Amino acid sequence: MTPNSRLDFTPDEMRRFGYQTIDLLVEHFAGLANGPVASLETRAALDARLAGPPPELASDPGEVLKRLERDVLSSRMRVDHPRFFAFVPSPGNFAGAMADALVSGLNIFAGTWMAGSGPIALEMATVRWLADACGMPASAGGLFVSGGSMANLTALAAARHAMLDDRTEGAMVYYSDQTHSSVERALRTIGFAAEQLRKLPSDDSYQLPAALLAEAVSSDRRAGLRPFAVVANAGTTNTGAVDPLPALGSFCRKEGLWLHADGAYGAASCLSARGRAALDGIGEVDSLSLDPHKWLFQPFECGCVVVRDAELLRRTFRITPEYLQDVHRLSPANLCDYGVQLTRGLRALKLWMSIQIFGMQAFREAIDRGFQLAEYAEQRLRRMPGWDIVSPAQMAVVSFRYTESTNRSEELVKAMYQDGYAMLTSTVLKGQTALRLCTINPRTTEADLDRTLARLDHLARA
Ligand SMILES: Cc1ncc(COP(=O)(O)O)c(C=O)c1O
Repeated sequence: MTPNSRLDFTPDEMRRFGYQTIDLLVEHFAGLANGPVASLETRAALDARLAGPPPELASDPGEVLKRLERDVLSSRMRVDHPRFFAFVPSPGNFAGAMADALVSGLNIFAGTWMAGSGPIALEMATVRWLADACGMPASAGGLFVSGGSMANLTALAAARHAMLDDRTEGAMVYYSDQTHSSVERALRTIGFAAEQLRKLPSDDSYQLPAALLAEAVSSDRRAGLRPFAVVANAGTTNTGAVDPLPALGSFCRKEGLWLHADGAYGAASCLSARGRAALDGIGEVDSLSLDPHKWLFQPFECGCVVVRDAELLRRTFRITPEYLQDVHRLSPANLCDYGVQLTRGLRALKLWMSIQIFGMQAFREAIDRGFQLAEYAEQRLRRMPGWDIVSPAQMAVVSFRYTESTNRSEELVKAMYQDGYAMLTSTVLKGQTALRLCTINPRTTEADLDRTLARLDHLARA
């Protein structure tokens, strides 16, 4: 390639570099199942290759790609690998990756209608698909954000605005000890202190007990505090537990509290009948987070926030400075008014394009496969001597432990990590360490699970 200070490529150079990049992606997707789940290098080895000043002179793009593969991509977990069962996997798909390439290459601006009316119309239509799948009313709307953390933050900022007029003094919010840390981080970020967050102990099914919530709210009211919101789990990260959404919905309505559901992990499953049944009551919440980069098979970053009354998002975030006066005069819908970002790309395209290409039926089947694989793993574990189920398969998560020693769980994670064949992680449930498998990758096979569990059993006995 000819070095130049216009930062320009000729059409032929673009094609060559583009095809080389596509080849790298195709090799990744086609070879994933046969390669290791993780390969790791030490910090010292990585720094030795990567720290240092930037190059002064040009390099051939093909050489840069080779360097990227050799020096960077060689050390990482493959979160889309069919035997990646750790944390929450992100089993992306090629259509989603191509959509991201288009968004980036065309530099699509989806902040204002003036600059991106077609993209914004597509994003609003895609949010509508998700809102409808969850049973939200016609007034609902929202936008795509970076992920569940940002979706929770956006929704809770809307709740603070709607319920408290942004005045947080004495305001209280309630959720269970199974709630994802992003909720606490969001609340801290928008100005709530630790004593305003009531983290209630979950019950034996890892759900928020409605009676305990009612007691806490009434005792706080008696103390002169201002309860304003409840955060319910629509699928916890730990066990897939779903809080009692119908009971929480009627309680919050009666008490005049905002109900937010963190469905970053589980709510995307509403696209399938099975998921929708597991999340009964989700259509009644005031706001909802869901993450297409988890159980809707999109590459990072793809989260979505839906608010029952979309206008509340606009009231929370809209500011109209003079340099944007044309934007606000000419535009029927500016997504920059509904969230934190002014400049924003079109995250919705990956989901929209994947659904156009594969169709909803394929998506429903892919979601259901997640449920079935966790149930399959549970049945296998129940037949393996020395292993106990700690929390049965629920929303594609199963947790379990080796009965001989609870410390074994952490050692086993380390051993599996080093082994590289499959990856799973541990958590703490009711004070005891347990292993968990999250099985939302539709490309996982029963044989993958059989071999992973056999390997785990072998390592536990070693
Ligand atoms: C239940 C739940 N909420 C929120 C999040 C945070 O989402 P993200 O990592 O996309 O910001 C996660 C991530 O796993 C999650 O499982």
